[in-house]
Amino acid sequence: MSKVNNTTHPSTFKLGDKAVNRMGYGAMQLAGPGVFGPPKDRATAVAVLREAIEQGVNHIDTSDFYGPHVTNEIIREALHPYRDDLVIVTKIGARRDDKGAWLPAFSAKELRQAVHDNLRNLGLDVIDAVNLRAMFDTHGPAEGSLEEPLSVLAELRRQGLVRHIGLSNVTRKQVQDGQKIAPIVCVQNNYNLVHRADDALIDDLAKDGIAYVPFFPLGGFSPLQSATLSEVAASIGATPMQTALAWLLHRAPNMLAIPGTSSLAHLRENLAAAKLRFSDPDLAKLNGIAS
Ligand SMILES: NC(=O)c1ccc[n+]([C@@H]2O[C@H](COP(=O)([O-])OP(=O)(O)OC[C@H]3O[C@@H](n4cnc5c(N)ncnc54)[C@H](OP(=O)(O)O)[C@@H]3O)[C@@H](O)[C@H]2O)c1
Repeated sequence: MSKVNNTTHPSTFKLGDKAVNRMGYGAMQLAGPGVFGPPKDRATAVAVLREAIEQGVNHIDTSDFYGPHVTNEIIREALHPYRDDLVIVTKIGARRDDKGAWLPAFSAKELRQAVHDNLRNLGLDVIDAVNLRAMFDTHGPAEGSLEEPLSVLAELRRQGLVRHIGLSNVTRKQVQDGQKIAPIVCVQNNYNLVHRADDALIDDLAKDGIAYVPFFPLGGFSPLQSATLSEVAASIGATPMQTALAWLLHRAPNMLAIPGTSSLAHLRENLAAAKLRFSDPDLAKLNGIAS
């Protein structure tokens, strides 16, 4: 497991051709319960997005299968026409059935359709970056060839509909193989203070200038809980969630945080975490949580 050094990394990192603030925003929580259907409070969803941008967020993670369509429609309502510095990253490779189940959608037709759905619902002519989300195993990354679907995405990139390509829920081999088909600018896997299977991958990607964008940075559907996390948080006057996000930003220069929230109070709390600094002993305690 990599030790996190007490280094203050730059506040930005290049995602494709644009530098983004490393504290971004994940839009999945803006859809209804179970990421299905409309939210209870659409006005607050719009307000969360506008406040995020006002506070300097210029990297938003989304997908047209959130809702489906709902999250992208809310992003468009809240933020279109988009600021030039805003990078919107979406993902394809899944679809929802009429009960909200997540199903793989990897045929060339489904992938092309997904890119066009994202373009239409976001109101864009070209998407900054599209992650191909692998689904060989429901529990996490698993080996399997992504050559066919990635070639479809690479073709959409050549057509000018997609500026950059990323991969999600993938192994190191899939990233290496993917780079032979198209430049990979970001990798989005499950990673946080307690779930650190990707430690080595993160360091490899940093060397190659590839962004690592962890999903479930706060634990996702099972919020992070740790007595040590609470203790360190209390000692620096922060909340456990802020402390977990700050730890991620200390972890590596290529780490881009995309915490998700439907709440203005949580958004403000999360964004403030970018300013937190740790003492060496506190960082050592946080590093030890996963071991
Ligand atoms: N590639 C993939 O397969 C994949 C999978 C999952 C997610 N994602 C992306 O990653 C982003 C982040 O993941 P996520 O949203 O699932 O999980 P997350 O950011 O780890 O956690 C979100 C959960 O934490 C709560 N929360 C947020 N801030 C909080 C705070 N300050 N205090 C207490 N609770 C707080 C949210 O509830 P409230 O709404 O009440 O704040 C929500 O229940 C998503 O939005 C999505 O864009 C990608």
